[in-house]
Amino acid sequence: MSAVVSLSNVHKSFGAVKVLKGVSFDIGASEVIAVIGASGSGKSTALRCINALETIDSGEILVCGHKVHDAALDRRALRRDVGIVFQSYNLFPHLTVAQNIMLAPSCVKNMGKAEARALAEQVLAKVGLLEKADNYPEQLSGGQQQRVAIARSLAMQPKLMLFDEVTSALDPQLTGEVLRVMEDLARAGMSMILVTHEMAFARKVASKVIFMHQGKVWETGPGAMLDNPQTKELSEFLSNGL
Ligand SMILES: Nc1ncnc2c1ncn2[C@@H]1O[C@H](COP(=O)(O)OP(=O)(O)OP(=O)(O)O)[C@@H](O)[C@H]1O
Ligand SMILES: [Mg+2]
Repeated sequence: MSAVVSLSNVHKSFGAVKVLKGVSFDIGASEVIAVIGASGSGKSTALRCINALETIDSGEILVCGHKVHDAALDRRALRRDVGIVFQSYNLFPHLTVAQNIMLAPSCVKNMGKAEARALAEQVLAKVGLLEKADNYPEQLSGGQQQRVAIARSLAMQPKLMLFDEVTSALDPQLTGEVLRVMEDLARAGMSMILVTHEMAFARKVASKVIFMHQGKVWETGPGAMLDNPQTKELSEFLSNGL
């Protein structure tokens, strides 16, 4: 099976700061990759490069058949295939939950109102928030708002989902409900890359864990690698980092 995402020897600097120093990894269809590592190790940058939010200096990135490193990349086509969710939910406060979700399908896909509403209800059901369709974001908890942000991404029917520390701003109970939604997505076969500090979740859900250290993939393996680190750096990260 061909890779959904493939990074080969990706380099990226911000000015004089080398942030990615030859990063390579692949993800196959329906795989869940957990990216872990200390602050500043390049996790978010790697994720942002996959979605062409950053341009790379050298190397190759293929995502769902798109050559992301190519100057001729069709960014819109790429972003139709790739959903990304961040720590901050960025919902529009003046729109209801359903309207927030309907926005992109209506504008980008020219979907009619009734169809977009039906789609919004479908994705809200997936994240367990159908009953909040006509509420405003401020009437929701942080965890619920994050689940709406995930639903909004799902409404574009992406082939790949990227999650960058989506639970970091949430307290443990709300974190749990967001992780459950992500676990459901994984079980339904969504290809996902998630940057996370939730080691128990990574161990349980990820088909592969990638430990980044100083801009490199330092160690990679199945979730069980967290129980048996091969490098001093991963071992230290696991004992301090949490
Ligand atoms: N737009 C930018 N301009 C300049 N430097 C940047 C930019 N984005 C990131 N960096 C630098 O790149 C390095 C890696 O940042 P990145 O955000 O990828 O780390 P991270 O692993 O996601 O960390 P964290 O766990 O804190 O989110 C850091 O030194 C950061 O300061
Ligand atoms: Mg980050």
